[in-house]
Amino acid sequence: MIYLDNSATTPLDPEVFKSMEPYFLEEFGNASTFYKLGREARKALEIARENVAALIGANPQEIIFTSGGTESDNMAIKGTAYRWKNKGKHIITSVIEHPAVEETCRYLEKNGFEVTYLPVYEEGLVRVEDVKEAIRDDTILITIMQANNEIGTIQPIAEIGKITSEKGIYFHTDAVQSVGKIPVKVEDLNVNLLSLSSHKLNGPKGVGALYIKKGTILEPLIHGGGHERGLRPGTENIPGIVGLGKACELARTHLDENIKQLTALREQLIAGVLGEIEESYLNGDHEKRLPNNAHFRFSGIEGESLVLHLDAKGIAASTGSACSSKSLEPSHVLMALGMEEVDAHGSLRLSLGKNITSDDVEFTIKAIKDSVNLLRSMSPLWNKN
Ligand SMILES: Cc1ncc(COP(=O)(O)O)c(C=O)c1O
Repeated sequence: MIYLDNSATTPLDPEVFKSMEPYFLEEFGNASTFYKLGREARKALEIARENVAALIGANPQEIIFTSGGTESDNMAIKGTAYRWKNKGKHIITSVIEHPAVEETCRYLEKNGFEVTYLPVYEEGLVRVEDVKEAIRDDTILITIMQANNEIGTIQPIAEIGKITSEKGIYFHTDAVQSVGKIPVKVEDLNVNLLSLSSHKLNGPKGVGALYIKKGTILEPLIHGGGHERGLRPGTENIPGIVGLGKACELARTHLDENIKQLTALREQLIAGVLGEIEESYLNGDHEKRLPNNAHFRFSGIEGESLVLHLDAKGIAASTGSACSSKSLEPSHVLMALGMEEVDAHGSLRLSLGKNITSDDVEFTIKAIKDSVNLLRSMSPLWNKN
């Protein structure tokens, strides 16, 4: 199989699996106990924290472990809203956020908060000017994703961060798709809060982290023992956390070579598809995008049918986000680019990852071309052209 859906999830790195194994078996201690077994678990937890922090240029004390990107986003957004509601009730976000952010904002709207949803333009980017204009005296939080999970566009987070830090407004970025794929340094980005998820960087599922800049105060969402500075009580998932730590260590060690390799493959894919298939287009800005993302649209076909045809040829791809791939609604991200519904339905996301070769990319280009030609030969949308 050629796996081209790394934005949905990534395969577990065998080295990560090896690092986790002892913590399922012999090293099963509870990290809150004081005998040797517990102390070993605590040590592993803190080493993992150091590795997560090192990948994003944070201090280990600024990292809180969670169950993944969704929980980190909820903790950042609701935690800020509940803690600072007496200061203001206005939040700014964008129209292309992942549901973990979007639905959290919608929930807060039902509970007395006001949310401004900033537009993106044809290239899929938020404009810094729009952010400036949307800020009000009662704005307590800006939450804008670093890289989009569908079209892979990278937002001007550092520039927005400059504004928020001058104005003293909390700034959160969902960096679930970007951490481990591009250089991410919290100091350069000027963020207070940053979400990341292990299963997007060849780590295990069900574990993630929230970076909370020193001095940033959140209301806890769950209550219990004092784990994770009282912000995320509950006995820690040591094997998962160890796996996340190892995945971060590997991502940091190999970041430059991965960026180089993935960018070359992405360019081969984009040039091949656009060059070989008439009326095919790249969605989202070409330059400001993740090294592993290529998102196309093809006139006259339906993305789901294309995904099924590719599946039959041994290629795993998707039309958009895994979270909404069972929905018949066109993607809110593609509609936000100003696309017609029919074009949004004709889109395909290919997200590259480890172990993909140049031959795999060639095979994929040919498979897409054959499938698109076949689907178009049967499509009333195409034949009326
Ligand atoms: C941008 C973004 N944010 C948040 C999430 C949710 O992360 P998790 O699956 O770890 O809850 C995802 C996962 O698809 C994502 O792509």
